[in-house]
Amino acid sequence: MAMGFCDDVKAAAEQIAAAPEITIISHIDADGISCEAILSQAVSRLEIPVKSVFVRQLEPLTMPQVPDDPSLKVFADLGAGQQNLMHERGFSEKDVLIIDHHVSQPCEREYTQVNCHPYGHTRMSAAGVSYLVAKELDDANIDLAQLAVIGNVGDMMAREKCGLVGPARDIIVEDGVRHGSVDVRKKDLNCYGTATRPVHLSLAYNDDPFVRGISNNPEAARQFLKKLGIRQQAPDGRWYVWEELSDDDRRTIISALAQQLMANGEKTDRLLAETYRFPGEIPRTPLRNAQEYATLLNACGRWSKPQVGGAILRGDRGTAYRDAEHMLNNHRAILRELLQYIVDRGVKELEYLQWLHVGGKYPDTIVGIGAGMALSKLNAKKPILIMCEVPEDRNLTKVSMRTTERIVEKGIDLQKALSEASAEYGGGGGGHKIAAGAYIPKPAEEEFVIRVNRILGEQFAAKDPGNR
Ligand code: C5P
Ligand code: C5P
Repeated sequence: MAMGFCDDVKAAAEQIAAAPEITIISHIDADGISCEAILSQAVSRLEIPVKSVFVRQLEPLTMPQVPDDPSLKVFADLGAGQQNLMHERGFSEKDVLIIDHHVSQPCEREYTQVNCHPYGHTRMSAAGVSYLVAKELDDANIDLAQLAVIGNVGDMMAREKCGLVGPARDIIVEDGVRHGSVDVRKKDLNCYGTATRPVHLSLAYNDDPFVRGISNNPEAARQFLKKLGIRQQAPDGRWYVWEELSDDDRRTIISALAQQLMANGEKTDRLLAETYRFPGEIPRTPLRNAQEYATLLNACGRWSKPQVGGAILRGDRGTAYRDAEHMLNNHRAILRELLQYIVDRGVKELEYLQWLHVGGKYPDTIVGIGAGMALSKLNAKKPILIMCEVPEDRNLTKVSMRTTERIVEKGIDLQKALSEASAEYGGGGGGHKIAAGAYIPKPAEEEFVIRVNRILGEQFAAKDPGNR
């Protein structure tokens, strides 16, 4: 781990340990919910009074939710890009600690920050940083490594390399394994739903990699498994999930899929991934692996009940879990509908981006996820920009953008593009090179898209002048 980063982790732990009381302000997604559960448990174990506030984003509308009291305000999974708001609010350096992984924006005041991003640890989420701080507070917090794995996977930190890398892998996953709460399968199928979906549906719903003749075709996937002699149903008719198959069956399926890809002349590099499973959780539930657990948390947070996700991370398998299952079904159904809506309505293409306004049909908390899912069904070479209304403020528009690692390698930085363009129109934005968001004044919408398009053109050209 980078030297300076270790020092920052230590400094953050010291600031927490010295605080008389703490307020955690965290984000409503899987990573933010995991941060809150890690930090608040680590702080309670020190017998420091702690309370938590979740915000959908730190911006002028949500800033009043941060209390004006003597507690240390620990901003987790947000804050690095919004230090100016803390400054405007009059918080002093000793009032604030930022635990984040987003790109930092300059501010007159230098708040204490522990952020993996400036040290080049760009594949670690804020829950990862929170965990390192918790472990610095007390080695006994190793039981929280599982939560950090969920946060990291929820923020897509395992997606591009088909597994976690860097300190998220070498420290956090390893701690989880040592503690016994995390199981690693090094060469597993890179497929979503391995704990809850019938195997043929898992295969059919997967499009990364897209396997011609199986992806998007449940009946063909079922026939494919049948031909391989895989027993797909229990004697009572219940469908087996991937996790229940024998090692031999799993190997047979993986090698048949690899053959199918090769026969189609496609690459097999994304067929396998390292996966993180939780042997202590209830079988056949989304709690059994990091990906599905993260979706469950997102379902809670993005539908305004992040505390329910927090309760589950603390071990509630009763009311909170039942509530979350209900939200998960709803979340999945609406995401499917949103994806279909984007594909059916079609996007408008400019030279360097594709965009769509979904009006008030879908909440601003999920359009970004929809944009990410739609990208693989649209022209993945152009970043996608989705706008929607903000129910709390009719004068505001939410913008979400997503792109791919290949486009980032060509010079695209969505965080820069959105923070620059939104600032010009009196809004604010941030995030990562590959995924970013912003709020802008509604009347600026059309000009804004054109402005972002121009900035993206400049970014492409700066990396490769022949690209214009
Ligand atoms: O980091 P923010 O951290 O809150 O990220 C929220 C969303 O951004 C994730 O749910 C994911 O959809 C997207 N994201 C991504 N790839 C990354 C980081 C974030 O797609 N490397
Ligand atoms: O909201 P969405 O999922 O599109 O967010 C993508 C990324 O952009 C997240 O990391 C989020 O924290 C960041 N974001 C931001 N400022 C905003 C909106 C989103 O920094 N106003």
